Amino acid sequence: MDQKTNAPRRLRSLDWFDNPDHIDMTALYLERFMNYGITPEELRSGKPIIGIAQSGSDLTPCNRVHVDLVRRVRDGIRDAGGIPIEFPTHPIFENCKRPTAALDRNLAYLGLVEILYGYPIDGVVLTTGCDKTTPFALMAAATVNIPAIVLSGGPMLDGWHENELAGSGTVIWRSRRKLAAGEINEEQFMDAALGSAPSVGHCNTMGTASTMNAMAEALGMSLTGCAAIPAPYRERGQMAYRTGRRAVEIVHEDIKPSDILTRDAFINAIRVNTLIGGSTNAPPHLMAMARHAGVDLHLNDWREHGYKLPLLANVQPAGAYLGERFHRAGGVPAIQWELLQQGLLNENCLTVTGRTVAENVEGRESTDREVIRPFAEPLKENAGFSVMRGNLFDAAIMKTSVISEEFHNRYLRQPGKEGVFEGRAIVFDGSEDYHHRINDPALNIDEHCVLVIRGAGPVGWPGSAEVVNMQPPDALLKKGITSLPTIGDGRQSGTADSPSILNASPESAVGGGLAWIRTGDIVRIDLNEGRCDMLVDDAEIELRKKDGIPAVPASATPWQQIYRATVGHLSEGAVIEQAVQFKNVAATMPRH
Ligand code: FES
Ligand code: MG
Repeated sequence: MDQKTNAPRRLRSLDWFDNPDHIDMTALYLERFMNYGITPEELRSGKPIIGIAQSGSDLTPCNRVHVDLVRRVRDGIRDAGGIPIEFPTHPIFENCKRPTAALDRNLAYLGLVEILYGYPIDGVVLTTGCDKTTPFALMAAATVNIPAIVLSGGPMLDGWHENELAGSGTVIWRSRRKLAAGEINEEQFMDAALGSAPSVGHCNTMGTASTMNAMAEALGMSLTGCAAIPAPYRERGQMAYRTGRRAVEIVHEDIKPSDILTRDAFINAIRVNTLIGGSTNAPPHLMAMARHAGVDLHLNDWREHGYKLPLLANVQPAGAYLGERFHRAGGVPAIQWELLQQGLLNENCLTVTGRTVAENVEGRESTDREVIRPFAEPLKENAGFSVMRGNLFDAAIMKTSVISEEFHNRYLRQPGKEGVFEGRAIVFDGSEDYHHRINDPALNIDEHCVLVIRGAGPVGWPGSAEVVNMQPPDALLKKGITSLPTIGDGRQSGTADSPSILNASPESAVGGGLAWIRTGDIVRIDLNEGRCDMLVDDAEIELRKKDGIPAVPASATPWQQIYRATVGHLSEGAVIEQAVQFKNVAATMPRH
């Protein structure tokens, strides 16, 4: 029965497995599943077929825990009266895929859409973890719109090195500065990096992985408390079981992504992102999900709904602790509980639990106020993303929660002009150019410079690279200057602690303003007005356009070429623009 309409509802999988009009096709669809021992009675029973989108593999070590967890998912599905069918998704490993994992997000999205649409699947468990594996899964679920539930793999245990917490990614950015300054040697650098990865799981910092899994939970797409459970904890296996059970129930209840992914839910997610000090990759990923879900969301929503909120989660890179402490302190529900007390949670949003978000987080106050601060005692005020524009780009963002006191004092507290900085631009075309020339004495880089990188956006790189958090030349590091203002049309790692101006859109490679800046130009950054401009007059900019857009490398693979021809701006989610028109695709059945 359809619990919404009380009318008998036929599962879409029966169109394959029990179709009297196409008995020949039904036979063909059924027979090969027999070869591993599944029976026709099972497939024709009218029980929901639950796909398990397996993102874990040896190539995606961050998600590899799912290879084991899936046993508990299957148990849950069977106990709730469903039939599990596991299948692989395109692997995406953030730290290893060259030229960047971002290139593969839209490819994995396309692949999953085809699987969910073209196979006999009534509902799906989306296994997530590493950065891009959460957004591609939710983008596909939004497009196809069959009942879907997210199972995060969870972060690794806390990393330690020399009696200090060593957080994934963050320890690398910090150690490479020490290496360049001559404070540590290469072996110590390697030890610190390896110390940050003590177990299965994804990054244990509030990098893009933890952020995106928190976003999935904040949107209502995973069970309450799912995101933060460390991968090796017993609770992770229990969550896998409950998620499997719930996957069957949401098919019977016909709860689809379109019931959950509303504008109110996205606003909830934006607010949670500020409170946790979430990744700068969240805006493009949430935008991508929203566009595939048909939800009206804009970059300005981050300014409007996220900027003025405080940072509450004391987790690296904006804070001190890592995933285990965050989980024990209450995780995402404790963050949502804070919003609820402030009247800042859109309470009525439906979630995969079948209840509203407010019902889910009732009584979930944090038990550790050192790690999840109350609103009255935040780690930082106004900790959201600043959304900027100017003649260098129409839109870019800056993560204000990672601005250090030192950086603030040096650049943003000039007498009489708080929040305004002017500096000489040093322009790099891609990261090879940066590495080549950053220590070149002829550039004369000092603390009054702004480092600019272009050719790093979706079309330019291709895929958009995490390269904007450029570190200063060694000579400055040795003087104790650990970061310069940086601007770029690429992204930066969610684990980075740099207050870069990034995701600049439109990018240089499609003729955005960054294409026309030159080394030596003065750049003016005004945080109060949210502006970033090169102080070059329009006539001169027009003249420079005659030189053409700075060159970027040619496509090296077929997908790179197709990606470049189809991708939109980072500020609009960097989605396949042609894909956005396809909504609710499972509402029609594929041809036989
Ligand atoms: Fe995979 Fe961070 S590299 S989660
Ligand atoms: Mg990354």
